Amino acid sequence: MEQVKVSLITGDGIGPEISRATRRIIDSSSAKIDWEIVETNPRQEDGDVIIDRMISSIEETSVGLKGPITTPIGSGYSSLTVALRKKLNLYANVRPVKKLLGLGPNFQAGDVDLVTVRENTEGLYSGIEHEIAGEYAESIKLVTRKGSEKIARFAFEYAKSEEREKVTAIHKANILKQSDGLFLDTARGISRDYPGIKLDEKIVDNMAMQLILHPEDYEILLAPNLYGDILSDLSAGLIGGLGVAPGGNFGDDLVVFEAVHGSAPDIAGQNVANPLGLLRSGIMMLNHVDQPEAAGEIEAAVDKVLEEREVLTPDLGGNSTTTELTDEIIGYL
Ligand code: NAI
Repeated sequence: MEQVKVSLITGDGIGPEISRATRRIIDSSSAKIDWEIVETNPRQEDGDVIIDRMISSIEETSVGLKGPITTPIGSGYSSLTVALRKKLNLYANVRPVKKLLGLGPNFQAGDVDLVTVRENTEGLYSGIEHEIAGEYAESIKLVTRKGSEKIARFAFEYAKSEEREKVTAIHKANILKQSDGLFLDTARGISRDYPGIKLDEKIVDNMAMQLILHPEDYEILLAPNLYGDILSDLSAGLIGGLGVAPGGNFGDDLVVFEAVHGSAPDIAGQNVANPLGLLRSGIMMLNHVDQPEAAGEIEAAVDKVLEEREVLTPDLGGNSTTTELTDEIIGYL
């Protein structure tokens, strides 16, 4: 098997801890990965310098595995993660959630096996914002037919390749008749090219409730940027929380895999962060670079650790450290 070059963007907050853990586990499997380490610390360096470093590495390797990067709330620098997705046109954010052994919410939820396919470059995250004298603020929700077509086609192609039967388009087109109306109308148009896959439609607030009551009824959620961001965190809550939920940002040629969660400043530097969200993003990465055996080995080792329930980080109800969980997984490889 040929060695594959992958950019490992370490991130900040819990990023360095979980990317170190993920790298150790992947390197202990049969995977053949040649890591290009890209360090990112927005508190020490200018954002543009970090963005340029991430972009040049990913353009060279075509595949990234990325730790989370902090964005200050309300003021300060803009999100480097959002900028990276936009600059590389990583228009599809794919976030699968599937019931994991022994994990789940504190209430009865059915078997969960759904994937959020979120539009990743426009909508309310287009970054067009104005404020006048602290009295007036406006954030533009930008929706284009071209962008909506790309993400709808991606969702249906993904459904086809995964042999899924239903795509649920999420919207608020009853109120946002123009922007969400365009998104929904485009999804309806694209769905006609896929007669074997049903197009289901849900208003976003109802969707949030349905995911709590009947998550087993859903397969692929096709969502505009903001709704997809929120509902994918909700979905992560159905399988054990943010600590275990993986994801990938797909463009036409480039892909950056990253966990759903952020930099978790409240637990950073304490060696208690759960590395499974990033590790499971790494499993998606290994399948993507055609190393399914290594992906399967790591998945089996994670299942064993979850089944045993002896070594778990605090977010999963245990009291083990990141390092102990990492060592336990490596022990099964
Ligand atoms: P967060 O996902 O970082 O944390 C939310 C809660 O989940 C916290 O209590 C945290 O401790 C917990 N948590 C998250 N990941 C965990 C893990 N691996 N193990 C155990 N517990 C975990 O979300 P929050 O607090 O909204 O954002 C913090 C920062 O992260 C912000 O600056 C935000 O902009 C950034 N962020 C970055 C993302 C990225 O780079 N892709 C995505 C989301 C947020």
